[in-house]
Amino acid sequence: MILRSLALRDWKSFGGEPARSTIKLAQLTLLVGPNASGKSNALDALRFLQGAALDFPLGDVLRGRYEGQREVWPAIRGGVVEAARAGASSFEIITRWTRDEAFVEHVLDVSTTGDVALNAERLTSDGRYLFDTAAASLGTNVGRTAGGSIRAALHSRRGGRNAPFEYSASRSLLGQVEVADRVQPLTVEVAHAVRRALREAVFLDIRPSMMRDYRPENGGHLGTSGENISPVLGALAPAQVQNVVDWLSELCAPTIEGIEFDRTGLREVMMILVEGGGRRTSARSASDGTLRFLGELVAMMTAPPGSLLVLEEPDVGLHPSRIRLLAELLQDLTRARDVQVLATTHSPTLLAHLSETSLANVVAFGRDPENGASICARIGELPHFDTLLKSRDVEHLVSTGWLERAL
Ligand SMILES: Nc1ncnc2c1ncn2[C@@H]1O[C@H](COP(=O)(O)OP(=O)(O)OP(=O)(O)O)[C@@H](O)[C@H]1O
Ligand SMILES: [Mg+2]
Repeated sequence: MILRSLALRDWKSFGGEPARSTIKLAQLTLLVGPNASGKSNALDALRFLQGAALDFPLGDVLRGRYEGQREVWPAIRGGVVEAARAGASSFEIITRWTRDEAFVEHVLDVSTTGDVALNAERLTSDGRYLFDTAAASLGTNVGRTAGGSIRAALHSRRGGRNAPFEYSASRSLLGQVEVADRVQPLTVEVAHAVRRALREAVFLDIRPSMMRDYRPENGGHLGTSGENISPVLGALAPAQVQNVVDWLSELCAPTIEGIEFDRTGLREVMMILVEGGGRRTSARSASDGTLRFLGELVAMMTAPPGSLLVLEEPDVGLHPSRIRLLAELLQDLTRARDVQVLATTHSPTLLAHLSETSLANVVAFGRDPENGASICARIGELPHFDTLLKSRDVEHLVSTGWLERAL
């Protein structure tokens, strides 16, 4: 599954105009725009979908979910009250995917007044419905029942039409359709594929302070804060470690010549950077910028092919002369490893170092001067894109606000 676009209606700061509230995604998509223009709100929408795909009640996805005394799902900023745009009582999130040759669309319309519940949900493949709770012609446009359930039209096992099934309106149908045993297998298959892709998306939030400890040897998961950097590096093949060393030696002022590992009798491990001249620096005293870059690099090197990595401001903490490396890293690894990256940035320098294709795929955010809604556009489709390319001073145009005025 490859995510092609994310369209938002009345989600947080977004209005409803489809052409101006759809984020088109490429292999590498950078989101740029002034503070409070809606970049993180767009990422929050994906996080909302991930919570829905984990089958949590939609209210818990917004509010945060506790099981026992443990937080199993952190709240989404703004919770229930500020999920829908001020003045609106529902929001809609539409994702479009490609799956092999098929074009899959998922629509989730959620009401936030009273109990958080589905207004409607629909999954289609190549324009043909797989399930639909709001189809007039199929008799499911009746809204929720008094008992809080919702009726969905589905194809029967043989492909004909079933009488509508009733499902709970408090969770996404992506995880519910499978319980009906008379449903067409394709419906369950596609619902599972969307659900799996959303579940496996990684929202990276690298924290150097969490990367400095001995960590148990594990199965190769970096962790969303990068906390398992040492065991994950320790489990890489020597050629891959050398690759990491090559990137680092360009990043850091003292050249890095190798990475070694200190292993304890308790099967815990810590990485040690070997600098030119043989000086050894453990993760404990590695610099913040080094650890952040290392975390992002290793996340991209180890993400399963086809998966989606979401990160906020990967350029934070990097020296301006090293931003070029980050541009190379993002472009090279997304291509080489078939990983999709969606990231916000405030760095005009990062944009200036992108290839023409990657620059065209940047999505610019701003606010509609008339109604204040967040609006966005792929900059390759802006009428002024040629000016941007020709100016050869992308940095200047971005840092003077030219880009948002061009929206
Ligand atoms: N329910 C809502 N209704 C209207 N506007 C909202 C709502 N929730 C959030 N916003 C707006 O969205 C803004 C936050 O946007 P967001 O966090 O996406 O900004 P950003 O582009 O990521 O900015 P930064 O670069 O500073 O991180 C808030 O300041 C507010 O104006
Ligand atoms: Mg933000």
